[in-house]
Formats: sequence, structure tokens, C-alpha cells
Amino acid sequence: MIHKSLPFFVLFFLLLQPQFLVMGDRKLIENTCRITEYYDLCISTLLSNPTSLKTDLKGLTLILLGVLQDKGSETIEKIKSLNESNPEWDEPLYECYMNYNAVVKEDVPEAITGVNEGRPQISKGDMMDISIKSLACDEGFMRRSMSLPLTTLNTLIYNLAFLTANFIGLL
Ligand SMILES: *[C@@H]1O[C@H](CO)[C@@H](O)[C@H](O)[C@H]1NC(C)=O
Repeated sequence: MIHKSLPFFVLFFLLLQPQFLVMGDRKLIENTCRITEYYDLCISTLLSNPTSLKTDLKGLTLILLGVLQDKGSETIEKIKSLNESNPEWDEPLYECYMNYNAVVKEDVPEAITGVNEGRPQISKGDMMDISIKSLACDEGFMRRSMSLPLTTLNTLIYNLAFLTANFIGLL
């Protein structure tokens, strides 16, 4: 009687420990990040959002899409301030602006809908579109032999788009 019920008691006790739950979800994050090509970016992005520890794979994917949306908006703000400080970059900045406007208004919202409605192929296509737009932004400056004032954000967004595509592929 006692040795039969003991494992249940131990399991019940473990489940009551907050750190047991946290470790379990941290394992999901670590194991999933390990099979992407962006382990460090994956871990740092997800662990900087506390809800990551309390959600499943779909939830983690939606968190990454939220980060993409934030970074897209941050890039648009940066574009506007560079447009004021460096009017000579007006043309490539305008191209970047159009691209990132589509990222935050079309690509990311459509990808979120795709994840929520079980149509991951559409979301994956959106991630490819975002990666192309981030490259196109730098290329606009390269083509005009200018320096690359947005390359740090463009590279981050390119990598985040592929990382998120990896997660979408697992749904
Ligand atoms: C940059 O500034 C010019 C001149 O004020 C303006 O016409 C243009 O719309 C601005 N572009 C962006 C992307 O904000």
C-alpha cells in the first residue's frame, strides 16, 4: 500500500514545486533552440520574455513573432530619425520604410493568423518575405555605395525570421 502510493505522492509533491515547472519549460526552450541554427539568439530572445517559461511550442512561436513585430516597429522609428539626421540617405531609407511597413502591417499579422489557425505554410512564407525585405534594405544602401546605417537591425531581423521559421516548421 505504502510503496504503491509513494511514487504518486512524490510526483504530486514535485509538481507543486515552482522550479520543477520552470525547469520543465526551460527544457522545452533549450531543446527546441538546440535544433535551430540560432541557438544563442533563440535562448536570449525567449528567456528575456518571462511568459516563455509558461507556454508550449505554439506559444513560443507567437512570442518570437511578437519580437519580430517589435523589431520591425523599432526599425521604422530608426528610419524616421535617420531620415531627419541624414537627408542624403532619403532614397534608400524610403525603400526600407516601405519594406518594414509591409513587415509590421502585413507579414507578421498574417503569420500570427497562420499560426493561430493551423496554416503554418503561410506563416513560413511570411518569414521568407521578411528575410528578403531585411536584405533588400541593406542592398538599397550598397547599390548607392553608401554606408549601412541599418545593418545591425536588418541582420537581427533576418536571423529572427529564420529562427521563427524553424519554430513554425515544428508546429
Ligand atoms: C524623409 O524626409 C523627407 C523630407 O522631409 C520626406 O519627404 C520623406 O517622406 C521622409 N521619408 C521617410 C521614410 O520618413
